[in-house]
Formats: sequence, C-alpha cells, structure tokens
Amino acid sequence: MACFFRRSIAAKLARTLHQPEDVFIPALHAAPVSKKRQSPDFRVPVSTLRMKGILPSHGDAQLQAEALANELNKDNVVEEISTGPGGMITFKVHRKLLVEKMLEPFGEEDAKFGFNSELFNTVKKGKTLVEFSSPNIAKKFHAGHLRSTIIGNFIANLKESLGNHVIRMNYLGDWGMQFGLLGAGFEQFGSQEKLNVNPLQHLFDVYVQANKEAEDNKEIQLAAREFFQKLEQHDSQAMSLWQQFREITVKEYQQVYKRLGVPFDVYSGESFHQEQAREVVQLLQTRGLLKTTERGTSVVDVSAEGDMSSCSTVLRSDGTSLYITRDIAAAIDRKEKFNFDEMIYVTDKSQQNHFQHLFHILRLMGHPWAESCRHVSFGLVQGMSTRRGEVVFLEDVLDEARARMLHNMQQATTTKEMADPGDTAEKVGMSALIVQDFRGPLEADYRFDWDRILQAQGDTGVFLQYTHARLRSLIRTNSTMAAKEIDPSLLLEHRSIAILQHLLRFDEVLYQSNRDLQPRHLVTFLTKLSHLVASALRELPVKGSPDNVAQARLRLFSGACSVLASGMRILGIKPVEKM
Ligand code: ARG
Repeated sequence: MACFFRRSIAAKLARTLHQPEDVFIPALHAAPVSKKRQSPDFRVPVSTLRMKGILPSHGDAQLQAEALANELNKDNVVEEISTGPGGMITFKVHRKLLVEKMLEPFGEEDAKFGFNSELFNTVKKGKTLVEFSSPNIAKKFHAGHLRSTIIGNFIANLKESLGNHVIRMNYLGDWGMQFGLLGAGFEQFGSQEKLNVNPLQHLFDVYVQANKEAEDNKEIQLAAREFFQKLEQHDSQAMSLWQQFREITVKEYQQVYKRLGVPFDVYSGESFHQEQAREVVQLLQTRGLLKTTERGTSVVDVSAEGDMSSCSTVLRSDGTSLYITRDIAAAIDRKEKFNFDEMIYVTDKSQQNHFQHLFHILRLMGHPWAESCRHVSFGLVQGMSTRRGEVVFLEDVLDEARARMLHNMQQATTTKEMADPGDTAEKVGMSALIVQDFRGPLEADYRFDWDRILQAQGDTGVFLQYTHARLRSLIRTNSTMAAKEIDPSLLLEHRSIAILQHLLRFDEVLYQSNRDLQPRHLVTFLTKLSHLVASALRELPVKGSPDNVAQARLRLFSGACSVLASGMRILGIKPVEKM
C-alpha cells in the first residue's frame, strides 16, 4: 500500500527532526516516474520543511538537503536516501517491498486503494451539498448546463469517495417571467398531445413561438403578464398547468440523467422559494440593509467599502423578486433543511458576480456559514453542435456521441464482437467528451470538436476506455490463472516498477483534487497510467510466460486496471468491458 511507505518515511523524518509524524505526511510527494531505471520513489522538498519552520529558513537549501540526507538512516524499507536538484531529499524504497506492498490490496476484489491514505486524516469530512446542472424549463440545455452536469457529478463523486455525505441537488429554473410567456403561449398554440409525446421539444417550441410573437403582438405580452401574475397569486388553474410543465420536465430529465449516469437526490427549483423570498426582503428591511433607488427598486449595498459603489437588486419596482432574492432564500432554506458543512454551486463564470453578491449578502445577514459556500466556475465552450444543428437538449449530445462513436467503431478493424455496440459507443463517446472537458483548468474557455475528441490515439477518453477494455479482456481470458500468492521478485522489471511508482501518486492526486476541485489532475494521472500500461503490455506478456511469471504480471495488470476504473468512475466515466 502506498500509505505504508508514506508513513514509514514520515516516521523516519519525525525521529530525526523531533516533530510529530503527521507533519511530514503531506510534505512527502511521490517522485515522477522517470525513464531512468532505479529512480527514487518519494521526495521531500527542503523548502516545504523551511516553510513549516522545521528547518531554518536561511542558508543554502541544497546544503541543508544534503546534511539532512546524511543524518537519515537507511532501513529495511528505504534502501537509498539522496538529494536531487533544488534542495530535494529523495527516497528509494526496497524494490521487492514496493512490489509486495503495492500489490497487496489488489488481492481482494474491492480495492479501496488510494482512498484510505493517511493523507486524508487531516481533511475534514462532513456533509457536502453540491448544486449542479440546474437547467431552465422550456429553455435550451446549453453547453454550460452540460459542463455544470459533468463537473458537478465529478465533485460529488470525489467528495463521496473520500467519505463525505453528499447531497446532489438540481436547482431548476422553474419560476420567473418566462413562465408567463410559456403559459400564455401554451393556452394559445400548445397541444396536450404533443406535450405528452415529446414534452421538452414541445415546451421549447411553444416558448420560442411565444417569444417571437410577443415581439410585435401586444396582446400576447399582456396575456403573459397576466399569466405570471396569476402564478404569483397561486391561481389554481395557472398553477396546475405550471405544475404539469414542471413534472413532465423533471421526468424527462431524470431519464436522460440516468442514461448519463448522473443521479440527483433533490430536484429543487426557484419556485420553491417564492414565499421565502418575500421574507428575505422583510428581513433585509428590518436589518437596515435595504435601500430604495430612484427607480423604485430595492438594493443591498455589496461594495467592500459600504459606499454603494456596487449593489445588488433584490426587489423590482413592481414588488416581484429576482433570481438573487430566490437564491438568498434557497441558501438559508438549505442550511436549515440539510445543515450542510459546505455547499458548492457549479455554474459558468458569467455568474461569478452573482455568487459573490449572494455570499456577501448572506454574511451581511449574519450567516457565518456563508464562508462554507463556494462557487466553482468554469469557462465557455464554443461550437458544440450536432448534425441536426445547435444543441438544444441534453439528449442530443448523448445521441451524437453514440452515433459518431458507433461509426468510428464500425470503421476500426480492432473492434470486438459485443452484445450492445450502441451502449458501448455511448459510454466511450461520453468519456471522450468528459476527458476533453476536464483536461485543462476549468476556468479556461475552449472550442469543441467532435473529431478531435473521438480520436483513439492521443490523450483522449477513448484511449482510457481502450486501455481499460484491453486490461479487462486480459483478466477475463486468464481468470483461471489468477493466484492468491505471487512472487514479488518476478516483477522487478523497469516496466512494472514504473507502474507501481506511478500508483504511489494516486492518493496525492485525489488529495489535490479535493483541495482545488479541478479534475485535470486525475485526467493527467489516468492518461499517464494508460501509457505506462500500454508499454508494459507490450514488454511483459502474460501469454506464453511460465505460470508464476504470468500470475505475477496478471496481478500487476489487475491492480492497474482497478485504479484506472476507480479513477474513471470518479470522473463520471463508465468503464467498458470490451471495445
Ligand atoms: N438555472 C440557472 C441557469 O441556467 C443556473 C442556476 C444556478 N444555481 C443557482 N443557485 N443560482 O443559468
């Protein structure tokens, strides 16, 4: 196990430097796998020890590293201690022990490898509410919603796998002026039949048509306003139509999310917080936080200096609430209902200001937990379209990924016989999309290109799936071979050591991801793992090797396969068995 080495080296440092062991756990990093044989496995930068006040911060770092390396003793775990450039102390563990310990957890079926590392001892566990996806009824499900869906799912998976209780929430855009137009439009040219057959499409069509007509038709504008007023007054007829739109939409979405493998615990929405939004305004009023502008709107001063240089409108002049008012109410309600330890909102960066204002207002209202709210924002994607044109529904993206990947698979000579090629194509296609999306910093914008992301070569999701399928097939064909005990001395080749060294890094990658919630660390890790596996498969054949060698190699490959699969699952990718 990776943590065995981490603990053992930390203990060694603790003894020499007279500090508690825990201090050294996060200071120890798995060394990058190098082409050089016999490269070290772990390293500690002297700069970290200086920063922590363990070593004096003056003097030459390189000399300090050398002095410390001399003081530390080798033992039956560490066989070599030396220094690297830039004041780095490096540790190489006994090769046989590395093989033995690293392959230990993979003897059993369900490996918790990486997730139970001591690195997480100091990480607080608790209840995390992740709000993501959050599309708007009758409107387009655009690339931003897709990104929110896959990023939010990644964050929820990660938090869950590290032992937090996670609540996955979808906050639908199910209230606001657009429902006036949708309702009025539906009364004029809607069809119950079409609504039943293809609800999302029909609601979208009605909304688009109503919008168009409203441009120069005063009557429909009026009807829209009236319809929304009826909704605000909870008129039963208007409410029942709205209710129907909402229910039908949620049902449709649930199916597509299921297809994508993204579950939600709660479908909330802006409509839930209508009444509470009024109370929020009252509360702001009594706390003296509300100011009325010349235009008759009510605002809260959210400037750092309190000089009104920046303010947020919470009430229109006609007394109706806004997006932010409902968000304030929703946040307070969620804290009361779920008592979360942290809440994460996932939207594109155009809403950065909105969330800053939201958190600021919550603080002004005296909610200290506003500090545990976090907005994870991401960049814009251009050019995501399908053969039919612009992406309108989430389903379009899934269909497109499936069709394109199926086409590629039919062209490829290596494609295996499988029971449901369409299903495999969809899983592989979506993994291509996810990996492309997760490769860079979330904040970055990018241009979407189906052809590029679906390439089998290069660092794509297709490559990860392909590697996983190859490993699974190897394990399946040799299932009768698998042995309980393996001889570690049969895995001392450079190719197998390189894989094990790389696996030493897995807990660190999870640790880092949990800190900044960026999926790219995991993508890089899994891609590198797949490259190392590809080389090892070439040079360390199972077939044709003596039984004990074949068994040892099989264990190595099943270990790699299990880490690959669990990493992919956290990213929201469903690993395929064959492709
Ligand atoms: N429905 C919104 C949109 O499509 C996203 C909601 C984000 N969450 C929130 N609590 N404001 O832009």
